[in-house]
Amino acid sequence: MAKVTIQQLKEMKQKGEKISMVTAYDYSQAVLVEKAGIEIILVGDSLSMTMLGYPGTVNLTTDEMIHHIKPVVKGAPTPMIVGDMVFGSYNESPRQAIASANRLMKEGGCDVIKLEGGRPDIVYPLVEAGIPVQGHIGLTPQTASMLGGFKVQGKSLDAAKKIIDEAKALEEAGAFSIVLECVPEELGRAVSQAVSIPIIGIGAGRFCDGQVLVFHDMLGMFDKFLPKFVKQYAQIGQEIVKALEQYKQEIKGGGFPEEKHSFGGLSAEDLKGLE
Ligand code: KIV
Repeated sequence: MAKVTIQQLKEMKQKGEKISMVTAYDYSQAVLVEKAGIEIILVGDSLSMTMLGYPGTVNLTTDEMIHHIKPVVKGAPTPMIVGDMVFGSYNESPRQAIASANRLMKEGGCDVIKLEGGRPDIVYPLVEAGIPVQGHIGLTPQTASMLGGFKVQGKSLDAAKKIIDEAKALEEAGAFSIVLECVPEELGRAVSQAVSIPIIGIGAGRFCDGQVLVFHDMLGMFDKFLPKFVKQYAQIGQEIVKALEQYKQEIKGGGFPEEKHSFGGLSAEDLKGLE
């Protein structure tokens, strides 16, 4: 299969064909996403919680992000791979942002980068430097404390207008797509109609151009909290625990390994005298 391109995503929006996107953070997950035919993989900074056990996204480093992008790139040749810019790697200056994005693309191997916030002043120089950028507005987890916590954004008319304006400014600055997180459904629709680039919603309702979910949330592999917007398509975490418990019981009870899991070739008789 040919690599998913920015042009292809644009055409999907024009045709009204919805875009699928999911996070993945290692080789085995990427292989599964590739098999499912999903168009975009986000190596999101949510990996700090789902994979590394940090309490939030702020502590994650660019080195850690690169470490996770590399195996995803190896496991999924077809989807577009988005590398997430970590907190503190782009908020000082365009120069810092370009240096960090260069690292994600050159060392990690991702196709494009994503960054949080309505920051055309950062997005424009990145695009001018040849780096394809996906924006991320609405609820931006890296700065959630400044937004009043993990809450629905854009609920007042003023706040909704600000988000629509941010989307237009990011498009103007050259972003090829925007993730829109946790806003009322009608605002999701309005933002998607206000710009010509694909809007990928997460908790932004049914009318966005595409949807993204966190791998561990949608598969039931992360039980610390579950946002209302997540649909769980499986309970893989419970299945894994069940299998591990059975494995333990069978080791203790002698049910595993069986003869079929063991190698022949020598008899007890052959080995007599060697003990
Ligand atoms: O890091 C992440 O997983 C994200 C999604 C919530 C869009 O940014």
